[in-house]
Amino acid sequence: MQTPHTPAKHTRMRTVHSAAAMQRLARAWRRKGVRVGLVPTMGFLHDGHLSLVRRARKAVGPRGVVVLSLYVNPAQFAAAEDFSLYPRDLPRDTRLCRDAGVDVLFAPDDAQMYPAAAGGAFSTFVEETALTQTLEGRSRPTHFRGVTTIVAKLLNLVLPDVAVFGAKDFQQAAVIRRMVRDLNFPATLVVAPTVRERVGLALSSRNRYLTSVERPQATILWRAIGHARARVRATKRAVSSKRLKQELHALIATQPAARVDYLEFFEADTLSPTATVGRGTHLALAVFIGKTRLIDNGRM
Ligand code: PAJ
Repeated sequence: MQTPHTPAKHTRMRTVHSAAAMQRLARAWRRKGVRVGLVPTMGFLHDGHLSLVRRARKAVGPRGVVVLSLYVNPAQFAAAEDFSLYPRDLPRDTRLCRDAGVDVLFAPDDAQMYPAAAGGAFSTFVEETALTQTLEGRSRPTHFRGVTTIVAKLLNLVLPDVAVFGAKDFQQAAVIRRMVRDLNFPATLVVAPTVRERVGLALSSRNRYLTSVERPQATILWRAIGHARARVRATKRAVSSKRLKQELHALIATQPAARVDYLEFFEADTLSPTATVGRGTHLALAVFIGKTRLIDNGRM
């Protein structure tokens, strides 16, 4: 029997594996005027993901529903990347979602998301062509086409009022914002701040790959952002991007396991590189720590 104190939200979480069932559910919510929040993830959840769930809850209110999607999307990994190694733990993720008050965990498989892909029957992709040309897009040329395609599909399956993304993937959020605007998706985008370990390392499912020797070295991304910020704030004059980049390369090179993939100062709205760095300029960087590629970014 239900008492007024039993409805711990988490006892009601549903897991949906079928794309058609997800869309039916979403259409029923729409008809009833229920507000829907979506948090797209690739799973192996950490506190960064869970902060997005809290943000989604805040956006839709106690009567709204929060959907967390969990799908390791093959289309956003290049052949040489870590798709098959990417950490997966559905039982643990299910528990975390339940405890975080997620209403529906949407966990489709490849057959649901790319039906008959093997036979070549999946042939439609969504591509943003401007903001994807720099930074991550330059290093990973097919990555964002995979991201925008899957996020477009998720928006069509979950029909959210609000979709929440993390500032950790700054360019991804910018690209998705552009797609939502250009293609008139009726969803509001929220970008939530990066959750970090106390030592500054941004939480990431990929931190799991780091060895005990590499882990302390991985804080160099955060230390580089801190160094740049301190340099910018120490002076009223604009600092040369070239000079500051040289300093950051030298700082990162103090870590034996670190190798810079890219490191760029840019204008936050357009992602265009800037010749000088001042307050408000954005820094994004990708650094290999051993074999693990980590990204981070911050505003000066
Ligand atoms: P994933 O890397 O699992 O990240 C899911 C969401 O969590 C993204 O919006 C990401 O920016 C956010 N996130 C990751 N680490 C975070 C942190 N430390 N603090 C705050 N938010 C964080 O990004 C993807 O998956 C995929 O590309 C996806 C959008 C799901 C499409 O497949």
